[in-house]
Amino acid sequence: MLSAERSRLLKEVGPGTPLGDLMRCYWIPVLLSEQLQAGEAPHAFKILGEQLVAYRSPEGLVGVVDDGCPHRGASMALGRNEPGGLRCIYHGWKCSPDGQLLEAPTHPAEFDLSQLRSGYHPVHEAQGIVWLWLGEGEPPPMRKLAFSDLPDDQVIAVTVKANCSWLQPLETLWDVFHAQILHNQTNRGSRRGGVYFSETGRTMDNGVAYDFPEMHADPTSYGMKYMNVDAAKRTHFRFILPFFDHHALEPGDFADKGLQISVPIDDDHSLLWMVMYNHHAPLKADGFALQSLEGVPDLSDFVGHLGPRTRENRWGQDRDLMEQGESWSGVPDTSLLVRIFLEDLMVIESQGHPDRTKEDIGITDRALVLGRKRVLEAIEAVQRGEPAPAQTDDLSGVEALFEVRPTAA
Ligand code: FES
Ligand SMILES: [Fe+2]
Repeated sequence: MLSAERSRLLKEVGPGTPLGDLMRCYWIPVLLSEQLQAGEAPHAFKILGEQLVAYRSPEGLVGVVDDGCPHRGASMALGRNEPGGLRCIYHGWKCSPDGQLLEAPTHPAEFDLSQLRSGYHPVHEAQGIVWLWLGEGEPPPMRKLAFSDLPDDQVIAVTVKANCSWLQPLETLWDVFHAQILHNQTNRGSRRGGVYFSETGRTMDNGVAYDFPEMHADPTSYGMKYMNVDAAKRTHFRFILPFFDHHALEPGDFADKGLQISVPIDDDHSLLWMVMYNHHAPLKADGFALQSLEGVPDLSDFVGHLGPRTRENRWGQDRDLMEQGESWSGVPDTSLLVRIFLEDLMVIESQGHPDRTKEDIGITDRALVLGRKRVLEAIEAVQRGEPAPAQTDDLSGVEALFEVRPTAA
């Protein structure tokens, strides 16, 4: 249970909010590289409540500016993507991808343009991901995550927009236990089904079996480490402030690994990322990542082809499939990752604005309780003027692990 005040602190992300201040201390993944094509129309998007415009110049460089032109606020999404930079069509101000104001026809020719604001934000592009700096001043160097040094063919990232506050998807990850109920059939029938459940667990009166876990959660310098232990497996997870979560996909030293990220679009919407990578070799067609994305037409909305999700259409739930016993959750049988995300999105979006003053928190929620606490502590640290936790740390060694227990092997 969380007080209404602390729950609100964990929700509001706009400029000047305490949580917004914390998040603006870190580089933020905002777009897939493939969403920006050289010389094409600018791409409007929103992150942390700020309306922004991204483009790839004809020379191939990515630029991000405030949507409102710094001169008099016309939308830069209307701008001309010209050689050298993006030009506002109203009075012709032009800014280069690296933030130089190149022309401002409203000023005399001899005017020093460096005195003017350009509305630019620093970007960093690597491994198919565009990262954005929304904080004040010079950005710190990009901190290293587990996949940061891998070649492009060993990393794949996908995104989906969710109609929920950014914290809800993370709470769903921290609540590892739900994967045995909500995703019971999905996991059981999947490539990891054989190691996900033991034969020694409990059974609900509808015949669905699960293993009751022990949950462990401990604070770390970068956020939190947490572990689910049950009769079948020991799965280790890592939460990295402010919104990264390393997820245990499947066992094996050579298996693909996954990082989920939940970036606030605004207070009520979030951009969910799944970054999958392999330390040892290019991603293989029969590995977790590529197999999970088989038949996905759009990596920037990787569950979009399954149709709209609204309260009115019951988030796409198919009751016939449930009645026929074909699907526990009502999500159709599709690739593992898509089905899991659809199941998660269904329950998360159905929460609306969860009232955390009225929860019934139990022992399977240990990581959820600590995860929230770690975010609140980080917010308070930044408000006191302290540096944001692990802002520039090398986190390349921080990742998840899936251990099969001998009883299940
Ligand atoms: S509003 Fe953009 S140049 Fe005037
Ligand atoms: Fe889930």
